[in-house]
Amino acid sequence: MVTGASSGIGKAVACMLASRGATVIFACRSESKALESIQFARSHKANADCHFLELDLSNLCGVQDFITKVKTAYPKVSILICNAGEAASYPRKVTRNGYERTYQVNYLAHFQITMGLLPLLQRAALDGAKSSSIVHVSSSVHQFADEIWLKKIQHLIPDRPYSLLETYGQSKLAQIMFSNELAIRLKGQGVYSNTIHPGIVSTQLMRDPNAVAGPFWGPALGIIIDWRNRLFAYSPEEAALTVLHCVSQSLTKQVSGAYYVPVANRWKTRHVDADNPEKCAALFDLSLELVKDALLKGAQSTE
Ligand SMILES: NC(=O)c1ccc[n+]([C@@H]2O[C@H](COP(=O)([O-])OP(=O)(O)OC[C@H]3O[C@@H](n4cnc5c(N)ncnc54)[C@H](OP(=O)(O)O)[C@@H]3O)[C@@H](O)[C@H]2O)c1
Repeated sequence: MVTGASSGIGKAVACMLASRGATVIFACRSESKALESIQFARSHKANADCHFLELDLSNLCGVQDFITKVKTAYPKVSILICNAGEAASYPRKVTRNGYERTYQVNYLAHFQITMGLLPLLQRAALDGAKSSSIVHVSSSVHQFADEIWLKKIQHLIPDRPYSLLETYGQSKLAQIMFSNELAIRLKGQGVYSNTIHPGIVSTQLMRDPNAVAGPFWGPALGIIIDWRNRLFAYSPEEAALTVLHCVSQSLTKQVSGAYYVPVANRWKTRHVDADNPEKCAALFDLSLELVKDALLKGAQSTE
């Protein structure tokens, strides 16, 4: 399963897996874009086994329905790529669940999906392949985040000033800390969890420079991104290699709790909190609470 398989790195990973004979679930918010990706995969392998499932990470109740659908339709999942993501933008956006949007889309919803699908990953590890793999597509921007947010209030509409770098960085740091905590909790179960930084990649991530830099600086940022992409960014296919290397290292060499950078290199994370087991565990417990609160609130509002 690949989240955000409708564009960029996710599309490249999903199509590469499908062309090598995997059954791939394209978990995307846009059906038409997902079907275009599937068509692309089939242009390389006519009978590629690709399935679309709708997933909008900005709605945690919808994410819960997605988990239920996956559990009903598939007995096991052997590879989960938590890839979908967005760049933070002005002004601060808050989801209907009450959390900062970038944090929820990039991290919290993927936490919920991973925990919800864990039984399917564990089942895959007990069957034939004897192992299953979770890859969190993070970013080197995690290193610019302050101390990890561990207070509930920081995720609700907070009174701290809004910073794009901090919000995106927190979401990417949280992915790494969650992965490290999972690696500890899943030890001995054949389910391996790792993180990657894909590099600077020519994708749609900064599709709206005005939203990132404002209407005055946005056009200039757009030009810089355009030239950056032409001159030295990796292609999505090159970035996908680090993801696939990470999957293969976990499945064949049982690597877990590692961080990979392009192209296909193991590296050390660059944030002190990522190596702090107490904080990783605290983030895990807090994330459970945040998801539970959102689902409870969602259930009450529909009563
Ligand atoms: N590009 C880089 O330089 C770079 C660097 C470091 C890390 N990353 C990370 O790489 C990952 C993939 O990004 P990309 O560069 O490939 O960008 P991209 O081309 O914009 O792809 C992002 C994917 O996430 C999906 N997505 C966004 N918001 C969503 C939501 N609310 N619900 C469901 N899906 C959603 C998008 O769907 P739509 O197609 O419908 O928009 C798209 O499929 C992200 O996690 C990003 O943070 C990228």
